[in-house]
Amino acid sequence: MNPSLCKFILARTPKSILHPTPTMNTPIPLNTGATIPALGLGTWQSAPGEVKAAVTHAIEAGYRHIDCAFCYQNEDEVGEAIQDVIKRGIVKREELFITSKVWCTFHTRVEEALQKSLDLLKVDYLDLYLMHWPVPMNPKGNHFLFPKHEDGSRDIDYSVTHIDTWKALEKLIKENPAKVKAIGVANYSVKYLEKLLAKSEITPAVNQIENHPLLPQQEVVDFCKEKGIHITAYSPLGSTGSPLFKDEAVLALAKKHNVGPGTVLLSYHLARNSSVLAKSVNPARIDENRKLITLDEKEMADLEAIHKTQGVTRFVYPPFGVNAGFPDKPDGIDLSG
Ligand SMILES: NC(=O)c1ccc[n+]([C@@H]2O[C@H](COP(=O)([O-])OP(=O)(O)OC[C@H]3O[C@@H](n4cnc5c(N)ncnc54)[C@H](OP(=O)(O)O)[C@@H]3O)[C@@H](O)[C@H]2O)c1
Repeated sequence: MNPSLCKFILARTPKSILHPTPTMNTPIPLNTGATIPALGLGTWQSAPGEVKAAVTHAIEAGYRHIDCAFCYQNEDEVGEAIQDVIKRGIVKREELFITSKVWCTFHTRVEEALQKSLDLLKVDYLDLYLMHWPVPMNPKGNHFLFPKHEDGSRDIDYSVTHIDTWKALEKLIKENPAKVKAIGVANYSVKYLEKLLAKSEITPAVNQIENHPLLPQQEVVDFCKEKGIHITAYSPLGSTGSPLFKDEAVLALAKKHNVGPGTVLLSYHLARNSSVLAKSVNPARIDENRKLITLDEKEMADLEAIHKTQGVTRFVYPPFGVNAGFPDKPDGIDLSG
């Protein structure tokens, strides 16, 4: 087509057609050929007794992406909710995108860990299975999830590295394609990814990282984009108690668009082509978090400016302690890059 005719048509095409407002289930492509829904329900710290109702409500309200982990110790109840909505015909299993994660004390037992999560969640397969942290911990320590030495330091398993764990996940998906549709990582910095990619046969489909205007992790986001690794953002509201709801720049944008601050914080990730996980056990908030808007370049720049004036802030700390020793230390303990 004639370039000036093209320009003429583009200039007159409504913004809503060129940049359609993302919805909670906008499918975002993964490097496996599958897609991941833009918004997922988080389940970390969703207490037993609350999480079944939360997941049930979320799926009834249209959520199709549920983020789980063995370490959250609530997969049994999440599974009850999933089983219930499927039985009642609200949704088919294949319409859901279910993620779980292999915990640090299971790095040498990934097949056992996968089966535990499948059994608890009462599903035949996971859409995505992630290495929760690139840190193997002693599987025979004094606690099955958080083993410690007598001096209180974390009991890290130095006999294996995250590369060994990734190899085990590659073997797992090759041997069990009916049980795992994609494998990925979480909490990986650029340096850890570089180490992993140098040795991997399968590129991780996803890197799930803490991500919000106070922790943009642009270097990780850009590196993953270049390598075809999708970013899923966690703790987008600032985690426990949603502290980012008080941020003035976020509040100003919320006022401008006549939406809640959560809508601005969640939409920030869709503008970056990431998916995003929001946790709530409150039905009204689960509903509210579905609302997403398109943020323009200037608005994204306002959000990007927040960490420059307030400093970078991490709300979720590694479970092995900030100064713990680290297997195969590519860059010490600093996972944020
Ligand atoms: N891979 C990893 O290592 C990792 C680490 C952390 C998190 N994650 C995943 O990411 C998910 C989300 O992160 P997150 O749980 O840390 O934090 P988050 O989603 O940023 O924030 C959750 C907090 O915000 C509150 N909240 C939610 N919606 C709200 C609303 N509309 N208005 C006011 N408050 C609201 C929640 O309280 P109520 O529940 O009372 O509404 C809760 O206190 C997790 O649940 C988990 O699935 C993964």
